[in-house]
Amino acid sequence: MKDQIDKIINEAEQFAITTIDQLESYKIRFLVKKGLVNQLFIDFKDLASEEKKILGKELNVLKSRVEELYNNAEVELRSAQSVNKKINPLPGYYSELGSRHPISAIIDEMTSIFERLGFSISTGPEIEDDWHNFSALNFPYNHPARDMQDTFFVDDEIALRTHTSSVQVRLMEEGNLPIRSIMPGRVYRNEAISARSNCFFHQVEGLYIDKGVSFSDLKQTLYNFVQEFFGTNTRVRFRASYFPFTEPSAEMDIYLGLDTESDYRLTKGTGWLEILGCGMVDPNVLENCKIDTSLYSGFAFGLGVDRMAMLKFGVKDLRTFFNGDKRFLEQFSSL
Ligand code: DAH
Repeated sequence: MKDQIDKIINEAEQFAITTIDQLESYKIRFLVKKGLVNQLFIDFKDLASEEKKILGKELNVLKSRVEELYNNAEVELRSAQSVNKKINPLPGYYSELGSRHPISAIIDEMTSIFERLGFSISTGPEIEDDWHNFSALNFPYNHPARDMQDTFFVDDEIALRTHTSSVQVRLMEEGNLPIRSIMPGRVYRNEAISARSNCFFHQVEGLYIDKGVSFSDLKQTLYNFVQEFFGTNTRVRFRASYFPFTEPSAEMDIYLGLDTESDYRLTKGTGWLEILGCGMVDPNVLENCKIDTSLYSGFAFGLGVDRMAMLKFGVKDLRTFFNGDKRFLEQFSSL
């Protein structure tokens, strides 16, 4: 029996207890009623009393050693478990933070430049009537822009606005002169959708009405904007143009050059990219809005936002701004 006692002590000491399951197996092997230790106590009863004297002590040592090993392992495991609980709390809920859309970021950048030049910000409705979108802006009744191909009509009188110039009319009609305001917003046109054009896009409209406003005020304002937005070395040019609501009218181009193939496509091989239309507000428009043309004059301009965003971020396909692909949008999350 002495051999058996030594063997069991040895086995108990070697027994690896690193999990609750192993602790349970240890208990089953050594400590339950049918376990090894109890079996020795049963055998012990049959020993001669001489042997009992010697081995009784040893058996008790065995029992307390096996129990001690069990208790120590149990304490260790339970405390490890509670530590684990502390550093492994229940999984938290991960919620993704949104960020500014790149088009909104560009609009913010543009508007903040004009705000520094003293312009306020105004907005108007995207569903607009014929008067504000066309008639008040001096569009002849049969002007092609009113055509079904360009305009999304709701009915004969109502359409989705085709430009932010409609907000100019609303501002002028309010009659709080002078006006120095910019009007960012979304506009709609019934155009074929491609990498470079969409059926909706964004504009930032500008309007300045006061006594004695001249074309040179317009030019200086736009020079200022371009230098702030594109950098101080940006070359610009004005080209004579035509809009029903301005006289004279112009378009402004910035020089991109022809360094890359995409410059070539963007500027159709000229190096120049058109970024806005502008002009002196046509007296007919001022009169439509009940502004005294003997006292007041003004300039207006309309900037295209989406192209600028493409230019600034090097985006080749306009549609990627709006198809809701998070992988694309996440690239702008620091804006
Ligand atoms: N409304 C014009 C367009 O959508 C842009 C524009 C041109 C706005 C000249 C203006 C302007 O205010 O003076 O193409």
